[in-house]
Amino acid sequence: MNLTTDQRPVAVISGGSRGLGLALVTDFLERGYRVETFSRTESAELTALRESTASDALFWSSVDGTNAEAVEEFVRAAVRRHRRVDVLVNNAATGLEGLLTLTAPTAIDTALQTNVTLPVLLTRACLKPMLARRTGVVINLSSINALRGQTGVAVYGAAKAALDGLTRGLAREVGPAGVRVVSVAPGYFDSEMTAGIGQAQRRRIVRRTPLGRLGSAEDVLGVIRFLTSPGASFITGQTITVDGGYTC
Ligand SMILES: NC(=O)c1ccc[n+]([C@@H]2O[C@H](COP(=O)([O-])OP(=O)(O)OC[C@H]3O[C@@H](n4cnc5c(N)ncnc54)[C@H](OP(=O)(O)O)[C@@H]3O)[C@@H](O)[C@H]2O)c1
Repeated sequence: MNLTTDQRPVAVISGGSRGLGLALVTDFLERGYRVETFSRTESAELTALRESTASDALFWSSVDGTNAEAVEEFVRAAVRRHRRVDVLVNNAATGLEGLLTLTAPTAIDTALQTNVTLPVLLTRACLKPMLARRTGVVINLSSINALRGQTGVAVYGAAKAALDGLTRGLAREVGPAGVRVVSVAPGYFDSEMTAGIGQAQRRRIVRRTPLGRLGSAEDVLGVIRFLTSPGASFITGQTITVDGGYTC
């Protein structure tokens, strides 16, 4: 089906410069979406993608997600441009690893701002055009660290558990208006965030994973592709785990 530019759906994806975010931007473009994304810096891969994509299909801005006013202005500009938001993927996040007693309060504050406040504010802003059109999907990137305790990632896990709470509460709030909210909780997959995981820890993760390997961005992408398809139109308020069975 050929859609005019104005009819093509719009996806807002935070943190589209690398890792899962970049894979999501590429996939949504391939599926005919117009994509609005931001990160603090533009990677060489995103620059190349922008150069090879129609100028009315992919928009990127440099935004620090800890700056609430900048996040709201990013959404205002996206809505001015397209007049609609069909999908929001709250993907941008920062890792925080270390024993709590040895973690600086400023690092905790930055992690909570990036991993909780940013997705809450981005969701609040994107919900307005979704509710106006009575349709939309919000995907929150959670983590298996929200579901299982692990030494060294208590704050990161708390932040991701907060997102799962947001998913459940908001699903009740906006479901009657036709908007779905779903969390996706991946296990470990290769990206800049997990580059610090050593070989011994990788072997331990693989041993504990029934499917016998680490995940990939493509594994998570496939689930998000499904959750934003008509086949998932009766799924809301859930956390979908994508971890090869690690938490089973
Ligand atoms: N990798 C894993 O094993 C794993 C497992 C479970 C869950 N997850 C979750 O999956 C999502 C994607 O993870 P990933 O591994 O692909 O991460 P990643 O490679 O570290 O990428 C993170 C993205 O977020 C952006 N970002 C970070 N802080 C930001 C800020 N303050 N303002 C704006 N943008 C910011 C980064 O760009 P800039 O740095 O340029 O700003 C980058 O585009 C995250 O929510 C993560 O928590 C990952």
